[in-house]
Amino acid sequence: FTVIDPDEGFLACGTTGKGRLGSIDLIEEIILDAIYALEKERDLAGKTVLITAGPTEEPIDPVRSITNKSSGKMGYALARVARRRGATVHLVSGPVKIDVPQGVAFYPVSTALEMQAQVEKLYRDADVTIMAAAVADYRVKEIAKEKIKKDSETLTLELIKNPDILASLGEHKNGFLVGFAAETENLTENALSKLKKKNLDMIVANNVAVEGSGFGSDTNIVTIVTENESLELAKMSKDSLADIIIDHIIKNGGTE
Ligand code: CTP
Repeated sequence: FTVIDPDEGFLACGTTGKGRLGSIDLIEEIILDAIYALEKERDLAGKTVLITAGPTEEPIDPVRSITNKSSGKMGYALARVARRRGATVHLVSGPVKIDVPQGVAFYPVSTALEMQAQVEKLYRDADVTIMAAAVADYRVKEIAKEKIKKDSETLTLELIKNPDILASLGEHKNGFLVGFAAETENLTENALSKLKKKNLDMIVANNVAVEGSGFGSDTNIVTIVTENESLELAKMSKDSLADIIIDHIIKNGGTE
């Protein structure tokens, strides 16, 4: 039996104390955790999985920034599923509007440089690293100290390239390295060339141009690409896909 304690707070009878229904997210996670324990092996027990998620946010001035539409849902689904399957999970996340999953070590970051610094601290201890974050490729060269005034008719921002975090991890490879590829055309070819260029073990290619796939959606349509195989998957929830991605990491020797 697992007993989920009630929460404390304002009660229907007008007093404050212990007796409220616990958080639905917590109840859901405890139920799913029990189901995983019954139905699946904890096949990631003893393993450490490092996951990045969400967008990065690159400041322009104290009140403005450049970001992208990544919701973080795919990375957070991977973090929840990896934890249910028994892993120690480190989640490095850009700013998103999702609750932090239960039982996961959480490292909030904002910019690509902050994400890189945090990932590099955790990378050596990871058996599997999954870069699901949508890292901004460029940042503003000189961040204005004061709010930029609308004095001129046009405004030019000079951008400089951010480091490719995944490629730099591939250069000093440790454990099993998984990337994502957001593509709008030639999905498999582009993904395979990213896999080789960044020295990855697997890449999850995402056609962001079709409905029900990619940024913000609760579902995804992907092709899982390794050096020898390309597996086109049907549309499914990001939670179901997270399980399949982890199955494939294990199948390809990611936890050996
Ligand atoms: N990535 C990264 N650091 C960056 C850019 C991307 O670590 N500065 C990672 C992403 O987390 C993802 C993978 O690289 O796992 C591929 O990202 P994607 O945006 O598809 O490709 P890019 O390498 O940025 O190439 P392009 O935008 O030219 O298609």
